[in-house]
Amino acid sequence: MAFIQTVNLGYKREGRDILKNVNLAVEKGETHALIGPTGAGKTTFLRLIDMLDMPGTGKIFINGVAVSHSEKSRLEIRRRMAFVLQKPVVFNLSVYDNVAYGLKWRGLKKHVIREKVNDILETVELVKYSKRNARTLSGGEMQRVAIARAIATGPEILLLDEPSANLDPVSAAKIEDLISGIIKQNAITVLMSTHDMEQGQRLADRISVLIDGEIVQTGNAREVFTSPKNREVAEFVGMENIIDGEVISNEGNMAAISVYGKTIEAITEHGVDEKVSVCIRPEDVTVSLARLSSSARNVLEGTIIWTAYSGPLCRLEIDCGFPLVSLVTRRSAEEMDLKKGLKVFGTVKAVSIHVIARH
Ligand SMILES: Nc1ncnc2c1ncn2[C@@H]1O[C@H](COP(=O)(O)OP(=O)(O)O)[C@@H](O)[C@H]1O
Ligand SMILES: [Mg+2]
Repeated sequence: MAFIQTVNLGYKREGRDILKNVNLAVEKGETHALIGPTGAGKTTFLRLIDMLDMPGTGKIFINGVAVSHSEKSRLEIRRRMAFVLQKPVVFNLSVYDNVAYGLKWRGLKKHVIREKVNDILETVELVKYSKRNARTLSGGEMQRVAIARAIATGPEILLLDEPSANLDPVSAAKIEDLISGIIKQNAITVLMSTHDMEQGQRLADRISVLIDGEIVQTGNAREVFTSPKNREVAEFVGMENIIDGEVISNEGNMAAISVYGKTIEAITEHGVDEKVSVCIRPEDVTVSLARLSSSARNVLEGTIIWTAYSGPLCRLEIDCGFPLVSLVTRRSAEEMDLKKGLKVFGTVKAVSIHVIARH
């Protein structure tokens, strides 16, 4: 059994299923990201693991022991984990006292506490704010205090609920660096939620995708990113082009798929049924004015129906019998003078076509 294991965990709110049959296994020392859109049930799930709420059905096992909600077992288990909430929670105390809080509560000697706290303040780069009231800090700094307080007591399990959501990009990057450092330096098991697929990819060993209260897919980042299990996961991981088609042939991992009268070739790592959707990331569609002679298997001719510039990028849609969204750099878009009505070719490698079953 895994270090953290849930078995058919279910939770209802006002008669509505918020979590359904969640079976999640997190190995000791693993960093596991729970990703999913807002409202999927991520916070609800973490609150059940932290024993703040009671599951309606199913069981939670920590280190092989079924969690019971007796006060004694609850205290014992909660001592071994720390939970950092999405919205940073700090006490109305100095930064130092915030971090020292759990250590004082555990009755450690003053000089031991001082050493530990100073060490951690160094890690979270808050030494200079040591005496400041934590409530006067910025959101990102407060989140760093919350993380510092969480790791101060040396928990075996760290639960993080969207630790960098609602922060500006610079503060969010700092938090991510901090978490990454904690993961590397400590023998700690981390279960974190995020709605940011890329953050999940950067930090986690494995990812579970939670959609509408159900885990739809678990795997390493590459698997989830390149072989989404169904349309919902595909959409969530940024497959903007999801086009229905029928498999014509499938030999030696190379499938030919008929899509609105055109044939698309794709590499498939697994057997596929006849009814499929082909998924293509916009950044995997190369746009050119003439037919490219390259090794890419798929060249789709069409007309641009819109372009949208944003920063250094240009997003555009080509009507090639079906809509195909492409993302190119602003510079190449300007060089080719890409605009509505222009005839272009969209080129996609067979390895960039991801095939999912259609139900
Ligand atoms: N206090 C609450 N009262 C009623 N519904 C809630 C409450 N908190 C969350 N929900 C609902 O439970 C579902 C899951 O929410 P949540 O676990 O917060 O999702 P996530 O963290 O993935 O955004 C959502 O549909 C949300 O609207
Ligand atoms: Mg949440």
